[in-house]
Amino acid sequence: MNFVLVGARGSGKSSVGPLLAKRLGWGFVDVDEEIARSAGRSVREIFEGDGEAGFRQRERETCQKLRRLKDFVIALGGGALMDPEIRGTVRRLGKVVWLRAPAAVLWSRIKHDPRTSSQRPDLTAQGGLAEMEALLAERERMYEASAHHVVDTVSMSPDEIAEAIEMWFEANDAQSS
Ligand code: S3P
Repeated sequence: MNFVLVGARGSGKSSVGPLLAKRLGWGFVDVDEEIARSAGRSVREIFEGDGEAGFRQRERETCQKLRRLKDFVIALGGGALMDPEIRGTVRRLGKVVWLRAPAAVLWSRIKHDPRTSSQRPDLTAQGGLAEMEALLAERERMYEASAHHVVDTVSMSPDEIAEAIEMWFEANDAQSS
């Protein structure tokens, strides 16, 4: 059994993941970091060199390799679930948790996140809040359809979110894993 954290850029997957893993005594893997590590380049450099299609191909290959994991918290990049193959893989990996927040909150978080310049190249010509709104309009139904559980993260700290997921797990699924 694993946890897969999904949601848009800025939803807190990479901050919550290690905290949740620590609470459970599990490992943690961030798919974007894994892609960058094995390419020897940042996500931005991969986008610049190989285009978004090149990045998505690496994302698919990295997600295939996750199948071996057990007792891991996995943070998935915000666009990964748009790929049908990744959606299938992810549901078999374990419990999928969607960290939900509105576009304005997500945009304000990523604007202030130092990882944004290396890891979050613009995906549309507009960029900024307009881009976040457009992406959410397309992607929220995928997050929702894949999720076993949803956490509304707006007024919660990363540790509170990790605690909420752990409590949900203990109340619902700990026995069946
Ligand atoms: C992307 C989100 C990023 C990263 C890449 C593409 C997206 O991950 O995978 O820049 O399509 O939303 P985070 O969600 O971890 O920022």
